[in-house]
Amino acid sequence: MQQEIVRIGLVGLGNMGKAHRANIRAGKVKGLKLTAICDRKEAMPEHEEDEAQVEDFTDMIRSGLIDAVLIATPHYFHTSMGIEALEAGLHVMVEKPLSVHKADCERLIAAHKGGGQVFGAMFQLRTDPVYKQIKSLIKGGELGEIRRVLWDCTDWFRTETYYASGGWRATWKGEGGGVLLNQCPHNLDLFQWLFGMPDEVTGFCHFGRYHDIEVEDDVTAYLRYGNGMHATFITSTGEAPGRNLLQISGERGMLTLEGRTLRFQRNRTPMSQFSQESGAGFAKPDCWSVEVPIEAGSSSHNDVLQNFTGAILRGEPLIAPAAEGIRSIELANAILLSSWHGRTIPLPMDSAEYERELQRRIDTSNHVKKPREVKISGDDFSKSFK
Ligand SMILES: NC(=O)c1ccc[n+]([C@@H]2O[C@H](COP(=O)([O-])OP(=O)(O)OC[C@H]3O[C@@H](n4cnc5c(N)ncnc54)[C@H](O)[C@@H]3O)[C@@H](O)[C@H]2O)c1
Repeated sequence: MQQEIVRIGLVGLGNMGKAHRANIRAGKVKGLKLTAICDRKEAMPEHEEDEAQVEDFTDMIRSGLIDAVLIATPHYFHTSMGIEALEAGLHVMVEKPLSVHKADCERLIAAHKGGGQVFGAMFQLRTDPVYKQIKSLIKGGELGEIRRVLWDCTDWFRTETYYASGGWRATWKGEGGGVLLNQCPHNLDLFQWLFGMPDEVTGFCHFGRYHDIEVEDDVTAYLRYGNGMHATFITSTGEAPGRNLLQISGERGMLTLEGRTLRFQRNRTPMSQFSQESGAGFAKPDCWSVEVPIEAGSSSHNDVLQNFTGAILRGEPLIAPAAEGIRSIELANAILLSSWHGRTIPLPMDSAEYERELQRRIDTSNHVKKPREVKISGDDFSKSFK
């Protein structure tokens, strides 16, 4: 008989895990049933017996109560827990980032034996109608060959209280990085999803520029592609109001996303062709401008979980296969490595070199987190999804 329900175990009941738990319990993901949860005793909900409560991850894996696992712990555990669950034959959905560094991504991906085992990653921005529309315009050739990209995603503002809210946050040992590892895996994933991987990366990171942290909270990167395209990627958790501006300049015009508004300025004649053919010195191609309609809706964790469930039950193709998560990590790692060494990093980068450099920072860290009274509510957290 065909399987109709996927029994899932959730590990990590923090900000993200609690939101996943509430969504699955509310029946927002058809065919997915939460049968076990795993965290420290103190993090467990009280007086509820809807799901088995397990304190040890290995016990949950071996319980026989689950077909799949959703990993929503601090990032380093994504690798160790992901490998354990994959080796036990379970389907796995891992929160972003896939791992902290490329070598761990390689280990994790190697544990996935394929076949019917489904391994997905939570890159829910791929479900956002605005980014789906941009991808379809690029793929459909509307922009012609892309020459230059600017992504200024400085709308990730975070307070000192946020950074104090978990001992693991914003440390080399606990998180393995700052804005590039926590907030930007989404943007970097979209970056490679839309434009592919660059040939080389030059990064300029500022560490603790706006916050009392040891990792990067302000980043500018220059990415050079083999086809002559180049891109600038800027991000920060210290700038307010900040903005989300994505500008894609192609032969046939320019696409600009600012906030949720997508504008297409379309060249009547492709720009290089016009430059070659025009007899005038100061002329420009005729251009018209339209606002591109965007379907209603926004990015959705539940859509990714629904797709994961469909992949297990009916073999649907994944929106975000976990193996693709290595690319956003390679970009983040290359930007950091370039900043540390003051040189351009050719891709593919040396994952062992990066792992050694990160370990050196962990071993020599003398940053002390200052205690601060912290209470982050679920409401506070949900506001972070704009
Ligand atoms: N997709 C998204 O939009 C999104 C948003 C927020 C966070 N995240 C990701 O979710 C993950 C968790 O982030 P968060 O903000 O919820 O963190 P958090 O600190 O609020 O929660 C982490 C939870 O994991 C538990 N945990 C730690 N080690 C464990 C272990 N060995 N066994 C069982 N439980 C353990 C902690 O006790 C805590 O309850 C991160 O990787 C983050 O990048 C994704």
